[in-house]
Amino acid sequence: MEVSFMATLSIPDEKKTLSEFVEVRTHLASMRIDYERWKPAHEVAAGASPTEILAAYAPEIERLKAQGGYVTADVIDVTPQTPGLEAMLNRFNSEHWHDEDEVRFIIEGRGIFHIHPREGKVVSITVEAGDLLRVPRGTWHWFDLCEERRIRAIRLFQDKTGWTPHYTESGVDRGYEPVCFGPSYFPGRANLS
Ligand SMILES: [Fe+2]
Repeated sequence: MEVSFMATLSIPDEKKTLSEFVEVRTHLASMRIDYERWKPAHEVAAGASPTEILAAYAPEIERLKAQGGYVTADVIDVTPQTPGLEAMLNRFNSEHWHDEDEVRFIIEGRGIFHIHPREGKVVSITVEAGDLLRVPRGTWHWFDLCEERRIRAIRLFQDKTGWTPHYTESGVDRGYEPVCFGPSYFPGRANLS
């Protein structure tokens, strides 16, 4: 049986961690970030092509397109062997924003988003397979992979030209360790789903 986890939200400045779905969703909603669990997720083979993945998730992708005005979807697939991985990660691991929404549905692997609201505390969100996150355009954020350096995710775009990061150069990102939360932090969670 597949063991499934979900996003964990942390507020480092308050030493607070949320791992209940409703709590995580509510806190993210207060920052205008949509969070969904797509369950049951569609079965896709480990070696499935991007085309097969997009076909499997076509109903969800079409719904999001209708909701958010997204016009294209693709699959990003990153492993520790991906050429230029460090350079790619370094584009996104300091605080920035985009002129369009950042929409990610995680199929495999993990990552950690930090969100810096205009008012309120920085939060981190560790996302895992089955998590959909929609970060509105203009939101200050940064992203890191977790230690296994693996992520496979569907991305949706309103216009790919809006995807270029604009850096705040605030330095705020340097105050937060990209520590991913996960099963090892919550050994009991394996029994909950
Ligand atoms: Fe981004």
